[in-house]
Amino acid sequence: MTKPGGQSIHEVNRLSWNAATAAHNSHKHDQAGFLRQGGSTLFPEEIDLLGEVSGRRLLHLQCNAGQDTLSLASRGATVTGIDISDEAIRFARQLSTESGIPATFDRTDLYDWLEAPPDGDARFDIVFCSYGAICWLSDLERWARGVAGMLIPGGRFVTLEFHPASMMYNERLELEYSYFGNGVPQKWEDGVDDYVAASEDCLTPSGYQDGIAAFSNPHPVHEFQWHLGAILSALLNAGMHIAQFHEYPFSNGARLFENMRKEPGGRWFPPSDFPAIPLMYGIVAEKPAPG
Ligand SMILES: C[S@@+](CC[C@H](N)C(=O)[O-])C[C@H]1O[C@@H](n2cnc3c(N)ncnc32)[C@H](O)[C@@H]1O
Repeated sequence: MTKPGGQSIHEVNRLSWNAATAAHNSHKHDQAGFLRQGGSTLFPEEIDLLGEVSGRRLLHLQCNAGQDTLSLASRGATVTGIDISDEAIRFARQLSTESGIPATFDRTDLYDWLEAPPDGDARFDIVFCSYGAICWLSDLERWARGVAGMLIPGGRFVTLEFHPASMMYNERLELEYSYFGNGVPQKWEDGVDDYVAASEDCLTPSGYQDGIAAFSNPHPVHEFQWHLGAILSALLNAGMHIAQFHEYPFSNGARLFENMRKEPGGRWFPPSDFPAIPLMYGIVAEKPAPG
């Protein structure tokens, strides 16, 4: 189901991500040195869901500036990262060179890449995306078919994502938005924000630096609220089996609401007098092997 605006609004989002990515990276100290010395930007939850990646071919969708992609490569995977943002892929390639960690990066709309990959025969053991990827997809069924098409039989799709229930709340953790967005794009005039600066030191494992102050994004952005039923159904309709599904009462790295409580490990929880709500979920879906 392609919703109003369809793929053309991805191009508007591209501009917003270009501006925001530069702001985000401005706060991250010496990322190349951090990765070169064995540092990783991955959290334990996605490491658990991914399982063994060494020796596996891994496609990282919406890889942004490549920090997680290179962290996966450091764990022994052969990784291709793709993202629509010019600035993100420029930075990722530079980070790969400067850190000495090899990976392939392509700047592309993921729908174009999944339906016509540069190496038409390429297939992957694992397709992965995380932390704010699915909310940019205008067509879930098409995405899931593309993901399934990129996997070898027996291959796995893995995601660790912000929970759509968390999107029902405004920045003050007040209930404001519908859970069921049904893929209708929501336009935010203020664009992708500087969530790295807002998250204190939790998204900067290489060290926080001041960088760009009071960032204001000149480009609007369109986001899609997909409920869990739609996400799981899209994967099932594409012929995948759901092997694992988890929900978590905290957010890794990103301070989603102003009044969140920070716990060790870069975990953010609602204030202690607020009921526990799901803030992240994880899926492992397998492409069945024939027979
Ligand atoms: C929140 S970031 C994901 C961060 C990622 N987990 C990481 O490793 O840093 C979302 C990313 O989705 C990308 N994106 C949005 N729409 C896209 C599309 N249609 N095709 C490819 N990438 C897209 C953005 O450019 C942005 O880098």
